[in-house]
Amino acid sequence: MTPDTDTAPPGAPSAGIIGGKDAVAIIYHSETGHTRAIARKAANLIGATLIEVKPKYPYCRMGKYFRGGEMAALGMKEAIIPAEIDISPYSLIIVGTPVWSQHPTPVINRAVAELQGAREGCEAIVFATCFRYAGKATTPVQEALGRAGIPARKSYVFPNRAPVADCAAALAEGVEALRIERKL
Ligand SMILES: Cc1cc2nc3c(=O)[nH]c(=O)nc-3n(C[C@H](O)[C@H](O)[C@H](O)COP(=O)(O)O)c2cc1C
Repeated sequence: MTPDTDTAPPGAPSAGIIGGKDAVAIIYHSETGHTRAIARKAANLIGATLIEVKPKYPYCRMGKYFRGGEMAALGMKEAIIPAEIDISPYSLIIVGTPVWSQHPTPVINRAVAELQGAREGCEAIVFATCFRYAGKATTPVQEALGRAGIPARKSYVFPNRAPVADCAAALAEGVEALRIERKL
């Protein structure tokens, strides 16, 4: 695994232009820091607001693998903090999930179900981080976003061996490409 994890406590949101027409939020779950590190680096590059979602009842070390891994494989949802996520200030959301049992985590499944106040025209980018094999882990997230009326325009899978800076740069390029398309 890469040492590029980020275990620092969540800090103040980065300097996204909240409510601006290009405002971006990165909504993510991370247990061991890989997804968090990419989310934080990308937020700095993009000027996005970070929204970290956590399980309401934290996983113990083995609980992640047994309860969490099984719930993920079954497409189940976990109770989360925050319980609801207001995305009304944002025209683009980036959703980041670790891969568990080749699926998105139960925390991210719940987070996508609890998105509130999507603007007309709000779009999404999805990314997943994995050790080696992601399966189709981004697909359920893209489908759930689609059902919520938020089309997922791009998706990425980042294996843990990929440098955080490269992953964050790929997300920033994706955002820029969407911004250019919207201006056409
Ligand atoms: C319960 C569990 C299941 C996992 N399943 C997979 C898997 O199916 N494929 C894979 O490549 N990595 C798997 N992993 C590894 C994680 O996806 C990977 O390390 C991820 O980047 C962790 O993100 P985080 O550090 O943000 O929590 C699993 C990890 C856990 C805890």
